[in-house]
Amino acid sequence: MTDEQHRRTPTRLWGGRFEGGPSEALARLSVSVQFDWRLAPYDLLGSRAHARVLHRAGLLTEDELDRMLGALDDLEEACRTGEFRPAVADEDVHTALERGLLERLGTLGGKLRAGRSRNDQVATDLRLYLRDHVRQIVSRLVELETALIAQADQNMGVAAPGMTHLQHAQPVLFSHQLLAHVQAYARDVDRLRDWDKRAAISPLGSGALAGSSLPLDPEAVADELGFDAAAANSMDAVSDRDYAVEFLAAAALIGVHLSRLGEEVVLWASQEFRWIEMDDTYATGSSIMPQKKNPDVAELARGKCGRLIGHLTALLTTLKGLPLTYNRDLQEDKEGVFDAVETLLLVLPAMAGLIATMRVNTERLEALAPQGFALATDLAELLVRRGVAFREAHEVVGHLVVWCQVNDKDFGDLTDDELAKVSPHLTPDVRDVFSVQGALAARKAYGGTSPERVGQQLTALRSLADDHASWAAS
Ligand code: ARG
Repeated sequence: MTDEQHRRTPTRLWGGRFEGGPSEALARLSVSVQFDWRLAPYDLLGSRAHARVLHRAGLLTEDELDRMLGALDDLEEACRTGEFRPAVADEDVHTALERGLLERLGTLGGKLRAGRSRNDQVATDLRLYLRDHVRQIVSRLVELETALIAQADQNMGVAAPGMTHLQHAQPVLFSHQLLAHVQAYARDVDRLRDWDKRAAISPLGSGALAGSSLPLDPEAVADELGFDAAAANSMDAVSDRDYAVEFLAAAALIGVHLSRLGEEVVLWASQEFRWIEMDDTYATGSSIMPQKKNPDVAELARGKCGRLIGHLTALLTTLKGLPLTYNRDLQEDKEGVFDAVETLLLVLPAMAGLIATMRVNTERLEALAPQGFALATDLAELLVRRGVAFREAHEVVGHLVVWCQVNDKDFGDLTDDELAKVSPHLTPDVRDVFSVQGALAARKAYGGTSPERVGQQLTALRSLADDHASWAAS
């Protein structure tokens, strides 16, 4: 668009005191409608509430209010069908929608801006957008929780190697590991619900920064828009972006959790692990190696974490040192937020599908579970129950492990004599603990991997996921 076209643009919201139009370079830098158009439905909600308040304040007649609401309905429908679209000359979503209103109502369309600034408008729109989309994200998180819970249920009782340092440590139920991931996503949902309480504050009525001299009713607007309260300080209301930062922090942590699950799936699907087989519908092939089946979903989930963390860092950096109140820097709050929302809405269903459709190689998991002397702790604890100091028990079992490694034997292959040779504490009956199922059953305290405890955990998580689903529908 040329300077001349910009000068002629009818939609600028601030042309009055300017002789010429903006330079092309300024216009290009300033324009945000290409991304903030996503806020249009929320801006229209705010406009309806504001129109009613203007009417109650005696600033719109009954007839004007009716025409205004009718035009807003019509404009909303036109936005929905794509019949009304932002133009290149529209600086932002608020400008575009005011143009839509002017096109429908003539001068009456210009009355809606009374007592309202884009500063309180944009802050309101972004809160409405986020509160709506956070519920969609929670719905997708519930699908992932549900997929993990279903796999945990189907594979209940299957032992797996539990790892620390990616080395075999102690056997666990594979279900216990799957539910460990559910615990993380459940905390994510909890965080978003907690976030929602602080996000439920309406900035509308704050005007540019100081409130309005017109008799508006911010509390009524807050109520109509589903907020819990109106902002207590207009200066804070137009400059606060904590809700965006907190959302991005929660999104970044979801990204971290997805990357950790993604990494495990990549390992599990590898030739070396072979714990799971991915369904063809959630795996990809190689353009050159016909035999390949690649875990791209899990890798993209892992990889996309980078941008989620980046958006949090970027917004914090933008906000640092900003004086009160509104500064145009704040326009930078939106693209990261939109991208974080859209990234999560893209990744979560793919991960849920990958988990729901994977086949667990239960025989291999069971066979791997005791490997790497994974029952060594159980043996040491047996000696402790017989009165041996843990320090000595640890030593004895350590020696036994070395002896086995040197002689290429596993715990289960040892004869009575061989046991006795390593230590007199190792009587033949210590073999009782060389059982994976026994080791699992023994970990029966709350939070442990015994089948009974994991069963209880599964039941509790199932009802938690139901609770999450009903919140998302609220
Ligand atoms: N597009 C702007 C933003 O996203 C809207 C607020 C503009 N306010 C102003 N005083 N120029 O922040």
